Amino acid sequence: MKTVFITGAAVNTGFGIAQKFASEGWNVIITSRREDTALVAAAKLRAAYPGVTIMSYGLEMVLPDNTVNESRITAIFDELEEKKVNVDCLVLCAANLGIHQQIFKNPLSDFISVINTNIVANYYIIESCARRMKKCRDGSIVFINSNTAYRAIPDRIAYSTSKAGQLGMMRALALDLGGYNIRVNAVLPGMIKTDRWENNYNNCRYALSNYTPLHDIAEFSDIADAVWYFAVYARNTTGAELCVDGGNMIQLYPVVPEK
Ligand SMILES: NC(=O)c1ccc[n+]([C@@H]2O[C@H](COP(=O)([O-])OP(=O)(O)OC[C@H]3O[C@@H](n4cnc5c(N)ncnc54)[C@H](OP(=O)(O)O)[C@@H]3O)[C@@H](O)[C@H]2O)c1
Repeated sequence: MKTVFITGAAVNTGFGIAQKFASEGWNVIITSRREDTALVAAAKLRAAYPGVTIMSYGLEMVLPDNTVNESRITAIFDELEEKKVNVDCLVLCAANLGIHQQIFKNPLSDFISVINTNIVANYYIIESCARRMKKCRDGSIVFINSNTAYRAIPDRIAYSTSKAGQLGMMRALALDLGGYNIRVNAVLPGMIKTDRWENNYNNCRYALSNYTPLHDIAEFSDIADAVWYFAVYARNTTGAELCVDGGNMIQLYPVVPEK
């Protein structure tokens, strides 16, 4: 039985990805910053998919002083090795969204926190996980990236920077890990129907990103299916980006229907 490790998997897209893999018979390891939140999500998943093993960990990727929580990340992967659990697919979904960060208002520490979470901590998680994948000469690593790696939105400089940086890291890792048969790819969602979509500070239901060529934004299952493709079917694909945004990125500008 195969195992997927998903960060930020207690709710929203991460939980949707966990559901997809569990429904396909994979064992699932989920993380959340809070141990109790991870436990609740794991219990929910266990109840829905009794035939698979669900594990959970509390993982604060970046500590309040903005340092990466190396010892916790190391401890988790050491424990998995001790338990003889091989991670076949690693999904990096947790993200510091860096919302409302303004260039002239926010302290540098806010910028650093986003970069350290979305790039540096992910790098360390990958290093810890790929060490074990390397021994098996098999593995798939999937970033949940964003189309904001290419298209900016207001007051999200650190977030956009981190997502663009993730794509550079993804390609470099794909090159360096390819010889071990470890594939590294990225899914680029546009807007996803989280509760933020309904209750967003920007009233996103009316945002122009709703006007996609496909006239819809992504469900959790759309993102989960893209991750599943990379994990299971994409034997000869690495360093690739799969955009799941209803075609939003291909437009010069959104075509808004006449009222
Ligand atoms: N929602 C969208 O429209 C959208 C669009 C494009 C890309 N994405 C990307 O899709 C992924 C999932 O996003 P989502 O909107 O579904 O979920 P989300 O719930 O907003 O974020 C995923 C998880 O990341 C963890 N997280 C949040 N802030 C964090 C921080 N400061 N440090 C460490 N972890 C933190 C949270 O888990 P815990 O609280 O359990 O620790 C959270 O549940 C993210 O990588 C996001 O960048 C989302």
